[in-house]
Amino acid sequence: MDVVQTQASAKIILFGEHAVVYQQPAIAVPVFALQAHADMQASDKPFHIIATDLGNRLMGLAQDQPLMQMALSTFHALQIEAPDASLRLSSTIPMASGLGSGAAVSTAIGRAIAAYSNCDLSAEMLNQLVYQIEQIHHGTPSGIDNTVIVYEQAIYYVRNQPLKMIENASDLTLLIADTGQAALTKVAVGDVRKLVETQPEQTMPVIEAIGQLTEAAQSAMQAGQPEALGQLMVANHEQLQRLTVSSPQLDRLVAAAISAGALGAKLSGGGRGGNMIALVDDKAEQVREALLTAGAVRVIQTTIPRTTQQ
Ligand code: PMV
Repeated sequence: MDVVQTQASAKIILFGEHAVVYQQPAIAVPVFALQAHADMQASDKPFHIIATDLGNRLMGLAQDQPLMQMALSTFHALQIEAPDASLRLSSTIPMASGLGSGAAVSTAIGRAIAAYSNCDLSAEMLNQLVYQIEQIHHGTPSGIDNTVIVYEQAIYYVRNQPLKMIENASDLTLLIADTGQAALTKVAVGDVRKLVETQPEQTMPVIEAIGQLTEAAQSAMQAGQPEALGQLMVANHEQLQRLTVSSPQLDRLVAAAISAGALGAKLSGGGRGGNMIALVDDKAEQVREALLTAGAVRVIQTTIPRTTQQ
């Protein structure tokens, strides 16, 4: 049989990070410009995974390794034996930077096995399988990464509630800029927790305000109003500054994007470093230049296509 090639996209949080920990909504979107790939072809050896460019730690896969686990649970779900085949993985998604690289690789694996075996694997089943693997990586993940990545659609998410797809009425072009500064989401989440515990009267209103901005953002997406969405991003960034999760470099990049004509910009994910996002229309090139001049180490452009007919 010929080689079967499948892929899965990255994801990024658009609104509501941190507040989502306190039962407020968050919005995450697929990032089609970054992809994990899985190629599967017949081999004279028993089923094995080759993951050379995902880093050495993914080589020499043991049965309990999450990638192999994803393959084995896909065979199990499809009720098939593992064929003599090799599954080659590669990815352009930076790891450990809030872009959902783990969920994307798992999704590409499930898709490759189903396609190679000529089996139907529903999105619902794939989502469940990927979620189980996410639990090995992350303990108790929210489920937002696997859902955005498997369904390839913007998601509105409230903790412990069913995820909702967002109908997006206009194409949205995002620039994702990396500060180059590694930051641990866990530390930022812990510091916000301390603020909530020691200064609840100042902090809870900020968290609730972020929730309201996220609600408004959902409406702006559904109504196809990118300008309004951009303003909501700026307001969300200001509230995240109050939660102390921005950084001088994130603030610099946000300011540079806005001065260069972005519709809006904010940090994305855990903060204190990591990525920021800028929503752009016809000024994408100017904004990209401004971000690089302001010190971004990498800028990725991606479009979230509209999901409603015009
Ligand atoms: O690591 P990311 O970019 O997927 O996002 C972390 C989001 C937080 O709200 C800060 C933490 C969380 O667990 O929701």
